[in-house]
Amino acid sequence: LCAAVADGCHARALCYDSGYLNTVMARSSITFVDGERGVMRYRGYPIEQLAERSTFLETAFLLIFGQLPTASQLHQFTRLVADHSYLHTDVGTYIRSFRYDAHPMGIFISSFAALATTVPAADAHHVDKHLYRILGQASSIAANAYRQRIGRAFNEPRKELGYAENFLYMLDRLSEGDYRPHPAVVRALDVLWIIHADHELNCSTACLRHLVSAQVDPYTAVAGAASALFGPSHGGAAEAVVRQLERIGTVDRIDAFLERVKAKQERLFGFGHRVYKSFDPRARILKRHVEEILALVGMQEPLFEVAKELERRALQDDYFICRKLYPNVDFYSGVIYRALGFPTDFYPLLFGLPRIAGWLAHYREAKQAETELQPGIDHTHVVRPAQVYIGHRPRPFVPLHRGE
Ligand code: ACO
Repeated sequence: LCAAVADGCHARALCYDSGYLNTVMARSSITFVDGERGVMRYRGYPIEQLAERSTFLETAFLLIFGQLPTASQLHQFTRLVADHSYLHTDVGTYIRSFRYDAHPMGIFISSFAALATTVPAADAHHVDKHLYRILGQASSIAANAYRQRIGRAFNEPRKELGYAENFLYMLDRLSEGDYRPHPAVVRALDVLWIIHADHELNCSTACLRHLVSAQVDPYTAVAGAASALFGPSHGGAAEAVVRQLERIGTVDRIDAFLERVKAKQERLFGFGHRVYKSFDPRARILKRHVEEILALVGMQEPLFEVAKELERRALQDDYFICRKLYPNVDFYSGVIYRALGFPTDFYPLLFGLPRIAGWLAHYREAKQAETELQPGIDHTHVVRPAQVYIGHRPRPFVPLHRGE
């Protein structure tokens, strides 16, 4: 549905595109995705190689600054993030004020918005000054949202630990002693975070770019993007996958469930993607890790049998084949989080935390585009889509007291 409109001296061509399926809103050099061929690269590097050989903080540096760091740059970056990981006292008090059953993602979103109030307004827009603090505070906020949930005192970060290891240390799920997470668990989390760090203009990143266009500071922008990621169709999908598997319960109930999906009574969470019309490359990476993690934690869970069989049957079913619906990253990440013992409502946070690296990269890129205008392209517009008004025609107001 397209239309041409003229308002005074400007003529504009409008196209109805409610899901932004045909609308380009940015030029970006951060992540390349080819959904038809199942290809994904950060700054030109294949995601498979980064997942195999990089670490989360190295990948974060790559996304944010555009190049792989040298050894000394990575050392300095890691140290600065660790230096900024001590939770702001006011934010700690704020987190403690939440009920024990508050959703951790709600705590995370509002704590980031609260963190924005601790920064002088004049300084807040210099994203390069704040990105170490944002990354450092993010893992402490996320870990302490969990500690609040289980009614335990908060743990101080340990600067000598890596990013994922320190996060697991602060959670300290298993004991109150000098807990050190298993290196294989640390690596699994690092891989999960590498593959979740960016995904071009997904819903939350597009939301962040909207906010940047309105000159929002990076803390508030992270809170806004995290709010978009909270939705079950986006970052809440891993949680929805596991809840769905729990509802299905046993392998013999899969067929009846798939019939309900095909009758459009429900959606198969963890399947389908706006961009990928073949296997999601991140799902391929995680699929390999699932068996490894299950073997490591020695877990025999009927739920994993249901997941494997559900995937097998869906991939052979015409409904899914002809709509090009394949497992997405969340189908497997939920299963891995479950095996690692995270509570179900913590999953969106485990997705949001690494995505901050991508949001910071997009924040910087959008800001740079404002200052380094390419000839002929005006990047300074506040994002403001058009609408087609379908409401009432003009009608006179009728006062409530009509003297009847
Ligand atoms: N289960 C059943 N049917 C589906 C599914 C699904 N998961 N996904 C799409 N379809 C069907 C639709 O009903 C539609 O069928 P129709 O042609 O008969 O009307 C067709 O496939 C196309 O669906 P759209 O909604 O237009 O596809 P879109 O690309 O917009 O949707 C989305 C992508 C939102 C991810 C969708 O596939 C979905 O809801 N999946 C489940 C939720 C999920 O796993 N989200 C995580 C995405 S990954 C991420 O955010 C990291």
